[in-house]
Amino acid sequence: MALFINVRGVPTYAVPKVPAQEITATPARLAQGEKLAVSMCADCHLDKTSRSLTGGPMADLPPEFGKLYASNITHDPTHGIGRWTDAELIALLRTGIGRDGRYRLVMPKFVHMSDEDINSLVVFLRSNHDWVQPKAVASRPQEPSFLSKALTHTVMKPAPLPAKAIVEPAATSPVALGRYLVTARYLCYDCHSQSFQTNNLLEPEKSEGYLGGGNEFITTNGSTITSRNLTMDLETGLGDWTEEEFTRAVKYGISSRHPVRAPMPRFTLMSDEEAHAIFAYLQTVPQIKRPNRETDGAVAAK
Ligand code: HEC
Ligand code: HEC
Repeated sequence: MALFINVRGVPTYAVPKVPAQEITATPARLAQGEKLAVSMCADCHLDKTSRSLTGGPMADLPPEFGKLYASNITHDPTHGIGRWTDAELIALLRTGIGRDGRYRLVMPKFVHMSDEDINSLVVFLRSNHDWVQPKAVASRPQEPSFLSKALTHTVMKPAPLPAKAIVEPAATSPVALGRYLVTARYLCYDCHSQSFQTNNLLEPEKSEGYLGGGNEFITTNGSTITSRNLTMDLETGLGDWTEEEFTRAVKYGISSRHPVRAPMPRFTLMSDEEAHAIFAYLQTVPQIKRPNRETDGAVAAK
């Protein structure tokens, strides 16, 4: 098995067939696509010096995964995604399989995202926005560790394309909308459950320790940060947080409780309606008692 994995490396699959379609670039889609790119793509793909989506090293990845680099996703035909079709982009965003069939490591899979959100992302990637103008910066080849390669043969598998159209729930049903935001649009659960290795892409709520925190990240100075418990447990979760406190922490990273450091994204473009819906949904999620190593030692010892 070990020899097999080292020789084969990261597996290749048949490229999933997304039906060819005309995606009309409306102003509403462009605005939504920009909001999604700021919230969901920039942390990995934006080069902060050139203000361009030319990618770069993944600094917060635990070293046992090897060295991985986010790709250039500007319009450049050689180094970016200028030659990808809309269908190929959608296949990658949904399943993790690239136009060459190679499985893309670490890149999140937007399995349950609405068709409208996916189309908005495509419209943004094709737009005149500064971030995506062609830049001839080569994407670095990946240097996955043995562990990463092994995981792609076991748990980190491509996701299937959705079987039917996906529509975002209306804001008049905050719990349903909140569930959509947490599991499909912003993927809060992906970072805030126990581990990427035990997350359940197809049925996010069946992920190990769903929203109870504990997933580990490495900061640029080499220390470990674990994601926080977002369930409503009073001692170790958000049980005594107000909606205002929650919204400020999520949108601006400001909290008097604990630091809110990277890789927690700043969801600055999130609407208050969305924050309200997420908070409403979190009230319904089964509570987990899981102390945070850094700050809740006293609770753990009780
Ligand atoms: C957690 C970090 C991360 C986030 C967030 C992320 N990506 Fe990626 N992305 C990567 C990495 C790493 C690769 C390269 C993976 C590989 O080659 O195995 C990649 C590859 C890609 C590719 C394939 C490019 C190519 O030439 O192979 C596209 C397209 C892409 N990302 C688009 C997006 C979009 C759009 C978003 C936001 C909706 C996004 N990514 C969010 C890390 C990320
Ligand atoms: C890329 C991974 C990642 C994603 C995606 C993510 N978070 Fe976080 N979040 C973290 C980490 C890590 C921390 C802990 C930061 C620290 O300790 O400084 C955190 C902290 C928080 C906190 C502070 C809690 C406390 O007890 O201090 C809240 C609230 C929060 N996240 C909510 C969310 C919500 C809501 C979403 C989705 C809209 C989300 N997060 C998406 C990684 C992430």
